[in-house]
Amino acid sequence: MFGGRLEKILKASGLGVRFKLVADTEKSKSIETAVSVIRDLAHYDRRKQVFILAFGGGVVGDLAGFIASIYKRGIPYIQVPTTLLAQVDSAIGGKTGVDLAEGKNLIGAIYQPRLVLSDVRFLKTLSRRQMRTGLAEVIKYAIIKDKELFSYLEARYNDVFRGSPDELQHIIKRCSKIKADIVSCDEREEKKIRTILNFGHTVGHAIEAASSYKGHNHGEAIALGILVASDISQKVKLLSAKTAQRIENLIRLAGLPRKIKKASLDAVINAHYRDKKFIGAKNRFVLIEALGKTKIIENIPLGIIREAIRKRLNPA
Ligand SMILES: NC(=O)c1ccc[n+]([C@@H]2O[C@H](COP(=O)([O-])OP(=O)(O)OC[C@H]3O[C@@H](n4cnc5c(N)ncnc54)[C@H](O)[C@@H]3O)[C@@H](O)[C@H]2O)c1
Ligand SMILES: [Zn+2]
Repeated sequence: MFGGRLEKILKASGLGVRFKLVADTEKSKSIETAVSVIRDLAHYDRRKQVFILAFGGGVVGDLAGFIASIYKRGIPYIQVPTTLLAQVDSAIGGKTGVDLAEGKNLIGAIYQPRLVLSDVRFLKTLSRRQMRTGLAEVIKYAIIKDKELFSYLEARYNDVFRGSPDELQHIIKRCSKIKADIVSCDEREEKKIRTILNFGHTVGHAIEAASSYKGHNHGEAIALGILVASDISQKVKLLSAKTAQRIENLIRLAGLPRKIKKASLDAVINAHYRDKKFIGAKNRFVLIEALGKTKIIENIPLGIIREAIRKRLNPA
């Protein structure tokens, strides 16, 4: 839908344009697709100076960024994200990559785009489910870094969750800044600063993996992971019941799930143990003390983790 317009604008600026369409599923984030795009690029690129413009959701952004990072040892690229998740998260921070059968994002590079251009008008055509996926990440940012944003979401949830452009623009700006600030302090996740972006993701990823990526989508799983992390934070006496309740309420208002479907407790726990956030035999969780205040804790007793996950399972 936007492709024709994009081509016109780029050509009007005197640029040669070559489109490469990829299927709109996670399957496109493969080394095979990357090689196919690169070969096309190599044919087109005879004595030209090329750059890549990634136009699409996180799949396209991760794939295009990865190609830009390896083609001719690195060429410039621009992110024009078209999903809420990509605008607030995946287009920012330079994590690029493709999946292998052995696991997601196993091949990749950290390679920053020259520009990230987000426009809320692209989001008009996004499905409600896809909007909610992005909102889960927005709620994550508010919890870990921005209690004002959290209150804003509570107060304006109707406009935000209905996709009003002004409110969306406000939250996309806030979240982009939070992510960019965090990444610029700790691009390669060496100082435990970038780690806080994993809030809700430890168990979230396990929930996605436990249903072989056929149950909850990423944002839904992250919403559940946020609830589990917030329950654990309460159990270890970091977080008040009142704040935990506010978090649960906002997730409910966003239309995100509060119960896990299509996965058993053991499947989630096993997937959790395979997660790369385990350092040696220790588990590691990003927990919260209050809105905007995180704490990284290692070695949470398994009983507490099991209990928090069990609470989110639908009774059989
Ligand atoms: N690099 C990072 O830091 C990072 C962070 C989070 C997620 N990711 C990756 O991002 C990917 C998920 O991204 P996503 O949620 O954007 O999914 P996606 O790219 O698969 O897009 C979801 C769906 O929305 C469609 N779509 C895109 N823009 C649209 C629009 N404007 N209107 C209507 N439909 C539109 C797509 O065609 C697709 O069907 C995963 O591969 C994940 O690993 C990367
Ligand atoms: Zn995420």
